[in-house]
Amino acid sequence: MSDLSTVIEVAGALSAAGGLGYAKARSPRVFWSLVGAPVARVRFSVTYRATMDVCGLTVQPSRLRAFMVRNVARQEVQRMTGYDVLRRVKMPRRLPRNTTAGPLVVPVALREDGTAFVRDYQKVPHALTVGANQSGKSMYQRNLISQLAKLPVGLIGIDCKRGVEQRGYAPRLSALAITPDEADGLLEALIGEMEERFDLLSSHGVPDMWGLPAKLRPVPLVVLVDEVAELFLVAAKKDEERRDRMVMRMIRLAQMARAVGIFLEVCGQRFGSDLGKGATALRAQLTGRVVHRVNDKQTAEMALGDIAPEAVFAATTIPPDRPGVAVAGDSSGGWSRIRTPAMTPGQAVAVCHEFAHVTPHLAALAPFRPAVSAAPDPGSPLLKSRPATG
Ligand SMILES: Nc1ncnc2c1ncn2[C@@H]1O[C@H](COP(=O)(O)OP(=O)(O)OP(=O)(O)O)[C@@H](O)[C@H]1O
Ligand SMILES: [Mg+2]
Repeated sequence: MSDLSTVIEVAGALSAAGGLGYAKARSPRVFWSLVGAPVARVRFSVTYRATMDVCGLTVQPSRLRAFMVRNVARQEVQRMTGYDVLRRVKMPRRLPRNTTAGPLVVPVALREDGTAFVRDYQKVPHALTVGANQSGKSMYQRNLISQLAKLPVGLIGIDCKRGVEQRGYAPRLSALAITPDEADGLLEALIGEMEERFDLLSSHGVPDMWGLPAKLRPVPLVVLVDEVAELFLVAAKKDEERRDRMVMRMIRLAQMARAVGIFLEVCGQRFGSDLGKGATALRAQLTGRVVHRVNDKQTAEMALGDIAPEAVFAATTIPPDRPGVAVAGDSSGGWSRIRTPAMTPGQAVAVCHEFAHVTPHLAALAPFRPAVSAAPDPGSPLLKSRPATG
């Protein structure tokens, strides 16, 4: 009898093994559900903590959690596993409705909690992006432009480094200035446009353009300044008058233009009183702040000290091998660490060509409308994406 049961047991084991082997070869899904997944699950739960620890992917638990574990569960507090989402940025595919509600909201970067950092021009009309050389300021604007390009807005570029960054975006730009002289004229034209828009509001008795009927509402304009110091630093005494004029015009736009749908997005390495008369008054109006790696604490203080003082230290600890990482603060005192997704200039240029047909033509800005070159060849190496590293 015992011989028979041994034979039955062995035969059973062999046929089960044979059945699994057959399932593995002929029906991998069944094999995975019966064997692969349970084994992987057990292996994962046994080795997970040690692996995360060795890879340096553990973070301190919150004080509340440590307290609860120590005093309520009466266990030793273990270091929690974490994952640095800013190492390789991948934007969430879908954004929660509450963050993207509004006609002028665009995702620009990823926050360290995995959610999208958005620019909402109705909530924060004007912003300043600061950072040392090669810290990621132009990448930030590149992401911004390629998102704004898809919306019904006019984009205006001021890139006094002779247009090296922004000339490629020409098909989607309603106006472009690449020298301080051109910028001076363009800012004057923008003031004229702002005053005309205010006349329109006044004739309809509404306080801002969102109160106008949709068919009368002027198109929103976003003015992107790539390196503000190029506008403000003067080499000779004779340029001072032009500089003072430009600062004054920018201050007027920053103080009033929100109501008529003109928004400023300013980039610079520093933004302090050393830029000249009026610079700090202008900075005070640029309430959205994004600070990339900076060379000194003073620059971080300049950009964040007045709105989110606790963020100053975080901005001084951004490592040089992580371009694009920044600290974003706003006038509510809140701040977070963010990083833009890597994007080649060619990719941004391609988006601008794709959406060239939505570029608004404004009569007041016609003299500054940039010449447009042919669309880039889709096979061009410029259009191939580069992975984010670091
Ligand atoms: N988010 C990012 N991920 C990966 N690489 C990035 C990121 N942001 C910037 N870089 C890389 O860092 C370098 C500098 O970026 P960028 O040109 O934007 O800096 P910048 O602050 O505008 O510099 P400059 O002051 O010289 O104009 C580029 O090679 C860019 O590709
Ligand atoms: Mg740059």
